[in-house]
Amino acid sequence: MSQVHVLDHPLIQHKVTFIRDKNTGTKEFRELVDEVATLMAYEITRDMPLEDTTIETPVATCQSRVISGKKVGLIPILRAGLGMVDGILKLIPAAKVGHVGLYRDPETLKPVEYYVKLPSDITERDLIVIDPMLATGGSASAAITALKNRGAKNLKLMCLIAAPEGIKLVQEEHPDVDIYVAAVDQYLNDHGYIVPGLGDAGDRLFGTK
Ligand code: PRP
Ligand code: URA
Repeated sequence: MSQVHVLDHPLIQHKVTFIRDKNTGTKEFRELVDEVATLMAYEITRDMPLEDTTIETPVATCQSRVISGKKVGLIPILRAGLGMVDGILKLIPAAKVGHVGLYRDPETLKPVEYYVKLPSDITERDLIVIDPMLATGGSASAAITALKNRGAKNLKLMCLIAAPEGIKLVQEEHPDVDIYVAAVDQYLNDHGYIVPGLGDAGDRLFGTK
């Protein structure tokens, strides 16, 4: 069974409050999502392996540690996942970025795949699948399946807000994928929106409606 990591750092929780607020406009929403993504990246990389190295400080020779050659891939789910990419790249600038395009059919709420473009070496990379919203879980689960079908092995899922329903689906379909979220909300309404949630993440990020 995969684990759910709720990243309850005060800065993350504070910023998520303003992200949720319906009075937060597009510019500020985008900036806050970017900032939270950076803070979440700090937590999600906590298990990165380190190796020893020797350097010269201006004062002496010293043993110190660096990240052990890990290759990371970021996989935003279009569109809303794009809003978190730059924030993560601030901490992991060498990561490659692949894209999975999915939209939720408004009638069936089932994900429809329309675009996949990935780094050629995804089999060797630790992949972070990114989507602000984990609602029914259909989109995230389909994106993970699409990546596994192309050889991906090491995956994590990073979302801002999750519904219990989405967590359950991803855990059932992908027990090997740990989930990192800033908040777990109450339930999904009849339109598949997370309650209380933040509304439509893609529309709020890009100012569409
Ligand atoms: C939203 C969101 C997730 C999906 C979550 O995307 O960004 O991808 O819904 O819902 P699920 O867990 O029930 O699948 P949407 O379909 O609105 O597309 P967009 O990002 O292009 O706006
Ligand atoms: N997608 C969103 O953008 N928001 C929700 O609440 C559910 C799915």
